[in-house]
Amino acid sequence: MSNPSLIEQIDTVVEKLSIAKSVVVFTGAGVSKESGVPTFRDKDGLWQKLKPEELANFNAFLKNPDRVTEWYSHRRKIMNEVQPNPGHYAIAEMEKLFEKFCVITQNVDNLHQRAGTKKIFELHGNLERNYCIKCKKLRDLKGHYSSTAIKCECGGLIRPDVVWFGEFLPQDQYAGAVAAAENCDVFFSVGTSAVVYPAANMPIYARQSGAFVVEVNVDYTELSHYANITLLGKSGEILPMIIKKLRV
Ligand code: APR
Repeated sequence: MSNPSLIEQIDTVVEKLSIAKSVVVFTGAGVSKESGVPTFRDKDGLWQKLKPEELANFNAFLKNPDRVTEWYSHRRKIMNEVQPNPGHYAIAEMEKLFEKFCVITQNVDNLHQRAGTKKIFELHGNLERNYCIKCKKLRDLKGHYSSTAIKCECGGLIRPDVVWFGEFLPQDQYAGAVAAAENCDVFFSVGTSAVVYPAANMPIYARQSGAFVVEVNVDYTELSHYANITLLGKSGEILPMIIKKLRV
């Protein structure tokens, strides 16, 4: 039995969407949880067992390139073994329904792309892309999950094209995402704890620019007091419900 207030809230969101010209969906690790990809800060999340300062930063990589390479190979293996879930597909469906639409994702798991979403701003990079820290040449590691550091022909180390703590976000992606957030009618924040900046600025920019901000999360977050509506539940269940009502 669905919670009636959830249904009423979804009806309000569908009403806003029915007159929206521009929609943005901002996502975090929670949107991939139902695909089997671990999040970071849930009680079974990656940062409960591992330390970001030992794995997700450049100095850690230089200090222990084998360890960091092995960890990212492990994560790349998981992301290539899982499938997009109904939440990813609902977001890809949504793209077809609005004049202006984009996804702004913090995820590096390539699942939005695989679900068919076209317009994506990748704020934290993409694990499918790897490059040499010396000559910057891209290296295709598809299907290659090395547990030790990989060297480029130039002698440089190959690293994942993801944004590590302390690194700048790709400027073009960030600027595009800010412009989209500031010029949309409805802004979804899906499956993110909204605690990592500057990515977590996005829902704030949207709200300050007059967008109707909808949070989809299994729990309340730092953002909840700021959102117009928080839809409590799994994104893989709630987003398809919204699409179904939109299509009626
Ligand atoms: N549906 C919706 N939300 C979910 C689901 C689900 N099925 N499962 C978990 N969540 C929510 C959790 O309640 C939490 O709020 O997803 C959120 C995941 O939060 P984090 O683990 O902090 O992930 P994220 O917000 O993406 O982290 C941001 O931190 O470590 C860095 O670079 C990393 O991009 C990442 C950034």
